[in-house]
Order: sequence, then C-alpha cells, then structure tokens
Amino acid sequence: MQRYSVLMIALHWLMAIAMITAFVLAQVMDDMPRGPAKVTVMGWHVLFGLSIAVLIIARLLARWTGAPPLPRNMPPMEAMLAKLAHIVLYAAMLIMPVTGLVAVTTGNRDFSVLGLFTLPSLAPTDWLHEGMEEIHETVAMIFLFTLVLHVFAVLWHAVIRRDGLAARMIPFLSR
Ligand code: HEM
Ligand code: HEM
Repeated sequence: MQRYSVLMIALHWLMAIAMITAFVLAQVMDDMPRGPAKVTVMGWHVLFGLSIAVLIIARLLARWTGAPPLPRNMPPMEAMLAKLAHIVLYAAMLIMPVTGLVAVTTGNRDFSVLGLFTLPSLAPTDWLHEGMEEIHETVAMIFLFTLVLHVFAVLWHAVIRRDGLAARMIPFLSR
C-alpha cells in the first residue's frame, strides 16, 4: 500500500502534539482564577496555537503535492466518512489559530505572550471579539468530536481489520 511521505508523517505528528497540547492548556486555563498564573498558561496556549498557524501552511503545501489515495477496496461509505473527517480536521487546524488571533487582536488589551512578543489590541470591537471566541470554542468541540472518531477509525483498522492502513501514518506498525 502507498505510504505518506516522511514530511507528511512528521507534520501530522508534530501538529497532533501541538493541537492536543493547546486543547489541554485551554481546559486548564479555563478552570483557573484570574491572575498571573492564568496569563502564563494562556501564553503557552497561544504559543502552541500559533505554531499550528505556521505548520498548517507547510502541511497544506505538502498535501497539495500529493498524498496516497485511500485503498480502492474501501467501502464507499467508509471512504466518504474518512474524507469528511480529514476535511473537518484540516478546517479546524486553520480556523482555530485564525479565530484565536482575531479574538485577541480585537480585544481591549495587548497580550504579552510569555514576555516573548506582544499581540496588540489592533481594533477593539466587542461583537467581533465575542463572535470569534464563540466560533473558537464551538470549532474546538467539533474538532474534539472528530478527533475521537478519527482515533477510533485508526484503531479499527489497526486492531480489527489489520489491513495496513494505520501503518501509512504510524510507520513502526509495519515492522
Ligand atoms: C490533533 C490530532 C490529529 C489531527 C489534526 C489529525 C489529522 C489527520 C489528517 C488531516 C489526516 C489525513 C491526511 C491526508 O490524507 O491529508 C490524518 C491521517 C491519519 N491520522 Fe491523524 N490526526 C490527529 C491525530 C491522530 C492520532 C492520535 C492518530 C493515532 C491513533 C492518528 C492517526 C492517523 C493515521 C493512521 C492516518 C492515516 C490514515 C490513512 O492512511 O488514510 N491521527 N490525520
Ligand atoms: C489550534 C490550536 C488551538 C486550539 C485547539 C485551541 C483551543 C481552545 C479552546 C478549547 C478554548 C476554550 C477554553 C474554554 O473556555 O473552555 C480556547 C480558548 C482561547 N483560545 Fe484557543 N486554541 C487554539 C489556538 C489559539 C490561538 C492561536 C490563540 C491566540 C492567538 C488562542 C487564544 C485563545 C483565547 C484568548 C481563549 C480564551 C477565550 C475565552 O476566554 O473564551 N487560541 N482555545
């Protein structure tokens, strides 16, 4: 079966780690009282989130140059679901950083990211700021739901079907 390129595999796993870490940090910061500790956790959240913004550009370019097709003997319904899930995951990787960035830059205050650099309050606009936060949180939930499906689908192929599909992205499975 045709494999993913080393670049696609590296980007998949780098981004999976960054995305899941950003998600976990968001839950942690949501439970914290206002204060400097929360600002620090939010700084890490933004840093991991912004790394997705950079990596997704490389990933979409790499994807554009080609990816292995799904196996021809896959039932059409299953292939359609897989494609749909992948589109939702790519969309989440784009929408999360963009809405996060717009939410911060339309807020009332500049936000210093761990003292490394500052995201300025460029155009304070309440409705836009709140709308972006709303979309950010909703897409995060859609992302989580799709990720759970994605992981179950991979487990199904790796453990039940044993058809070699999972090894396209998890090379050590093929040994
Ligand atoms: C934030 C987490 C994740 C995101 C955003 C994500 C996203 C994606 C996307 C978009 C693809 C399709 C690649 C393409 O054809 O263009 C893909 C494929 C794949 N992912 Fe993930 N993934 C994540 C986590 C995981 C995890 C935790 C596993 C392991 C259980 C996994 C295993 C795989 C496998 C095996 C494939 C290849 C499927 C195939 O051969 O068609 N992914 N992933
Ligand atoms: C892909 C990466 C990202 C993921 C998975 C993610 C996920 C989340 C989640 C789940 C929340 C909701 C926390 C809650 O209220 O329960 C959140 C909040 C937030 N995120 Fe992100 N985020 C990402 C990227 C970013 C980026 C790049 C920024 C800024 C540049 C950002 C800024 C924020 C801010 C300011 C909040 C707080 C919003 C509020 O208080 O309602 N996020 N994020």
